[in-house]
Amino acid sequence: MNSWMTSSFLVVFTGLVCTALFFFTVTRGALIARGLGFGERGASEHVYPIYSDMRLIKMVDFQPIISAILLFQYDRLVSKIVAELQTLNLRDREVLITSCAFGNVIPRVVGAAVASGARRVHLIDLIKNELTHARGKLGDLARKVEFSEANATAMRHSDGSVAANVIFFLLHELPHDLKGEALKEAARTVAPGGKLLLAEFHRPDSWFLRVLSWTYFKVFEPLGLALWDSHDPLHYIESLGGFSCTRSTCFFGNFQVIVATKQ
Ligand SMILES: C[S@@+](CC[C@H](N)C(=O)[O-])C[C@H]1O[C@@H](n2cnc3c(N)ncnc32)[C@H](O)[C@@H]1O
Repeated sequence: MNSWMTSSFLVVFTGLVCTALFFFTVTRGALIARGLGFGERGASEHVYPIYSDMRLIKMVDFQPIISAILLFQYDRLVSKIVAELQTLNLRDREVLITSCAFGNVIPRVVGAAVASGARRVHLIDLIKNELTHARGKLGDLARKVEFSEANATAMRHSDGSVAANVIFFLLHELPHDLKGEALKEAARTVAPGGKLLLAEFHRPDSWFLRVLSWTYFKVFEPLGLALWDSHDPLHYIESLGGFSCTRSTCFFGNFQVIVATKQ
């Protein structure tokens, strides 16, 4: 019995270490390598290989894995965004999704927008493979979507051209100077009365979760910690003026959804 328990423990422990090593290699590790002069340069140099290499995208993008990464709050966060979309009159309006994300957020947001009458949904991403992958999840809904390779920090959409702009867990992956740029662009594209809907990590309320979360960010995603204080997206949007904002948090404050309504 004892040796059975030891073997089980070793198998689970090895599995967890291998998983952590895999994720480190395809996220922070790749950025460290790029900092040393290896691999990707240019506008997409901050994008992890996990989002640019089609084999990695297909290997990782399974709903249970993605839900687990967001501590099983994924569905709740997407539902909040969908519910906010449903409060808008989208008849003959356009909706923008600024960057792709894993899981079912894209089909759910597109489905909700189309069901509420949206004429068109624009889905943009820096990486073509992400757009191709997202298209594959949309089935018939893809007919309502315009897919564009574009940079969230320099959008081609004109001022006030969309009724809603959804940004799902993009900011924590952007270098700090680009976080503000992306938010400024997102705010610019929203029409008066429209909404900027943003889901992100947030500073946890309890010190225990804060320590765990801080460790996670330091190891895997160091660009995310600034969202807790110096680059709080809510403060940034408020500083732009012309928006009324609400923030709701969940899972002991670990995640947030910001709803910024343009006046
Ligand atoms: C939105 S985040 C999603 C991360 C999150 N962990 C998830 O649930 O999948 C990753 C996406 O943002 C895209 N991206 C990163 N920087 C971008 C930028 N400046 N403009 C547009 N898309 C960007 C990446 O290519 C990738 O598809």
